[in-house]
Amino acid sequence: MLDHLEKILIDEEKLIKRVKELGAQITEDYKDKDLFIIVILKGAVMFASDLIKEIKLPLAIDFMAVSSYGASTKSSGVVRIMKDLEEQIEGKDVLIVEDIVDTGLTLNYLFENLLSRKPRSLKVCCCLDKPSRRKAPVNVDYVGFNIPDEFVIGYGLDYAEKYRNLPFIGVLSKEAYAK
Ligand code: IMP
Ligand code: MG
Repeated sequence: MLDHLEKILIDEEKLIKRVKELGAQITEDYKDKDLFIIVILKGAVMFASDLIKEIKLPLAIDFMAVSSYGASTKSSGVVRIMKDLEEQIEGKDVLIVEDIVDTGLTLNYLFENLLSRKPRSLKVCCCLDKPSRRKAPVNVDYVGFNIPDEFVIGYGLDYAEKYRNLPFIGVLSKEAYAK
């Protein structure tokens, strides 16, 4: 299973520590708000489930699935909603929880889409950010870690649907997708 792992970038201990910090920060910021968390499937599932345990407030969660077409290590910018929310978000304090912001194309689209549903506030929390790759502007309010431009796997992130269950963030070896 670890054949294609080049190295561990962020180990389990660091992830847990940072998630606790983010949870504490969000708890503080949303004290008097009506927090509604949108988890972006599938990548953000592991991060979100750890994060919400660290948010000591009443909150609601819902899920969205989006897909960007194209080769599996590159985002094409064409975003499609595969699964939409079940709840209305009008008047709520919405926090999007995403695995990683790369080009920003996915989140840029999602943000505009959700904004049109008139939430009271709309913010973004992502586990990882690759700021050097940005093609579309996104304002990320909470970032777990900034990482260099490498394709990463684990802690929810996949390569061709595999490796999501690794408890750490690792770098996928170039040989894995050079073929
Ligand atoms: P963006 O639209 O380019 O910002 O891409 C966002 C989506 O691409 C993320 O939600 C991930 O699903 C996927 N993605 C981007 N970079 C990586 C990576 O390094 N590993 C795994 N998935 C990634
Ligand atoms: Mg993905």
